[in-house]
Amino acid sequence: MKLILGIETSCDETGIALYHTERGLLAHALHSQVAMHNEYGGVVPELASRDHIRRVLPLIHEAVRESSCTLKGVDAVAYTQGPGLSGALLVGAGIGCSLAYALGIPAIGIHHLEGHLLSPLLADPAPEFPFVALLVSGGHTQLMRVDGVGRYTLLGETLDDAAGEAFDKSAKLLGLGYPGGAALSALAQQGTPGRFRLPRPMLHSGDLEFSFSGLKTAVLTLAQQHERNGQPMDEQTRADIAHATQEAIVEVLAGKATAALRQTGLKQLVVAGGVGANRRLRAQLDRAASRLQFRVFYPDLEFCTDNGAMIAFAGALRLKHQAGSRQYSFDVKPRWDLQKIGLPA
Ligand code: KG4
Ligand code: ZN
Repeated sequence: MKLILGIETSCDETGIALYHTERGLLAHALHSQVAMHNEYGGVVPELASRDHIRRVLPLIHEAVRESSCTLKGVDAVAYTQGPGLSGALLVGAGIGCSLAYALGIPAIGIHHLEGHLLSPLLADPAPEFPFVALLVSGGHTQLMRVDGVGRYTLLGETLDDAAGEAFDKSAKLLGLGYPGGAALSALAQQGTPGRFRLPRPMLHSGDLEFSFSGLKTAVLTLAQQHERNGQPMDEQTRADIAHATQEAIVEVLAGKATAALRQTGLKQLVVAGGVGANRRLRAQLDRAASRLQFRVFYPDLEFCTDNGAMIAFAGALRLKHQAGSRQYSFDVKPRWDLQKIGLPA
C-alpha cells in the first residue's frame, strides 16, 4: 500500500497527482500554459520553465488538500525525467528530488511516453498485457508493442512530423492559434465531407512508419488556392479544409494501428497522447474494432493530454518492482529512447 506523488513538467503543462496503490487516483491538479504560449505561436522554452517554477508548489499543495492526505504520508515521488524541454524537466526533477530528500523517501524518474502509454490502465475497463499502443502526441507518433511495464518494442514511428504537429501546423495555417488540434477538430465538424481530398501519406507503404510533413504542404497549397488577392478564405472553405485534414490524419493513424494489430496478432489496442482525444479518431478506431474483432482502450479525455496522474501511476507500477533512488542528485533526459528505459529492476 503506497501513496505516490506524480510531477509532470516536460513541456507546457504543470501536472500534479496523488495515486494510491489500493484506493486509486486520489487527486490531481493541472495548469496549462497554452494561453501564455499562444501569442508566440508555439512553446517558448524559457517561459515554460519559469511558469513551472511558479505553479508547481501551489499545485502540489492543492492536490494534497484535495486528497485529504498529508505530504508526510507520501511514500515516493515520481517525476518526468524526459523526454521534453530540458529547463522544464529540471523544474520537476529538482522539486521532486528535493521533496523526496526532505521526506526521506525514494524518487523515481519516469519516461514521459511510458506515462502516456500506461495511462489507459487507469481507466475501467483496462487492457491487459500484451497490447499494441498507438502513441500520438505533439512530439511523437509511434506504434509500440507493450508486453509489460518497461517491455516496449517499437513497431513503427513517424519519419518527420508527429500527428499532433500535423494537426497544429495545419491549424496554424487556418488561423486557429496554437496548439490547434482540438480547434481544428471542432471546426472540421462544420466541414463538408468530400469537398476536398488530401493525400494519405504512407498509408499503403506496407510498413508501420508514418510521414506527415508533406500533408502540411498540401494543406498550405489548398489554403493558398482559396486566399485570392490576399483576401482570407470564407468560413465554409476553412471548415472544409479542416475536415479534409482531419480525415487524412485519422485515416492514416487508424490504418496503421490496425495493420500493427494484424502484424502482431494482438487483439487489444491502446491509444495514448493528446491526439487520442480526437473524437473522429476514436470513432474510426471503434468502427474498425467492431469490424475486425479487436478491443480498443482510451484514457479518460482529461488524461489524454499531459497530466500528473499518468506519471504518478507509472511511478506506482515501477515501485512494485524497483526500490526507487535515494541518491537525490538528478539529471534530465531531453532525448530518451523509450525502448532503452528497461525493466523495473
Ligand atoms: O500529449 P500531449 O498533451 O503533449 C505532448 O506530449 O506533445 O499532446 C498535445 C497534442 C497537440 O499537438 C494537440 O494539438 C493535440 O495533442 N490534440 C489534439 C486534440 N487534443 C489535443 N489533436 C487532435 N484532436 C484533438 N481533439
Ligand atoms: Zn505528452
